Amino acid sequence: MVLIGPPGAGKGTQASRLAAHYHIPHISTGEMLREEVKQGSLIGNQIKDCLAAGNLVSDEMILGLVEMRLQQKDCRLGFILDGFPRSEVQAIATQALLNRLQRPLDAVVQMMMPDDEIVTRLSCRRICSQCARPYHLLFNAPKVEGVCDVDGSALIQRSDDTEDSIRNRLHVFHKQTEPVVEFYRKTPLLKEIDAMGEVNAITQAIIQALGKEATV
Ligand code: AP5
Repeated sequence: MVLIGPPGAGKGTQASRLAAHYHIPHISTGEMLREEVKQGSLIGNQIKDCLAAGNLVSDEMILGLVEMRLQQKDCRLGFILDGFPRSEVQAIATQALLNRLQRPLDAVVQMMMPDDEIVTRLSCRRICSQCARPYHLLFNAPKVEGVCDVDGSALIQRSDDTEDSIRNRLHVFHKQTEPVVEFYRKTPLLKEIDAMGEVNAITQAIIQALGKEATV
């Protein structure tokens, strides 16, 4: 399945909960790219500035990374794509790729949230410097301030969680990713979920919307 929505809608938060529920991997393209930057790889050095500014990396690069990832063993029973596809070119290429792998999508979940809530939500986000688990200073605070509940590592702010970058990411979402939602609206796959509300209630709403289609 695919999770699509504006920055800060809670895609990562929900994808990791759904991955645990359905026992399938959570594939976050944003996280894959941040890991390249962290490792200082050739790709990482090329995309560092693009990520910090909140622009999309090239379709060619992301398609190559996703194709490799989907062929790994743990994707045999299914997978949750978080933040991919997010351009029309990626959506068309994904359809061709999944047909070739004989792994058609079961569902595309659109997480809907008004723009004015997003800047407030993202400016309070912190992530674990090691496992990337997201926290929120008000709604989902760690047990000990500044420290990840899971592995005890320091929490940090993402380089693209500045006000300028958040506003650019929103602009990029409306211009380049909303057409992807319209692409899936023409199929029976699209499920719309209100992303404002309590985290548990949203997980339950997604599971209910997926129904039998998500049985693995
Ligand atoms: P990516 O990492 O995908 O970022 P994004 O789409 O901007 O989304 P976020 O990770 O910011 O938000 P989220 O929806 O996952 O929310 P979260 O769960 O963290 O991409 C980053 C960059 O990588 C892109 O800008 C681009 O450069 C590049 N990239 C990635 N994919 C690409 C692609 N396919 N093609 C080209 N380039 C690509 O939650 C946010 C906060 O809210 C957290 O603090 C959380 O604790 C809190 N929260 C979550 N749910 C709730 C709730 N219900 N109530 C209150 N708080 C909540």
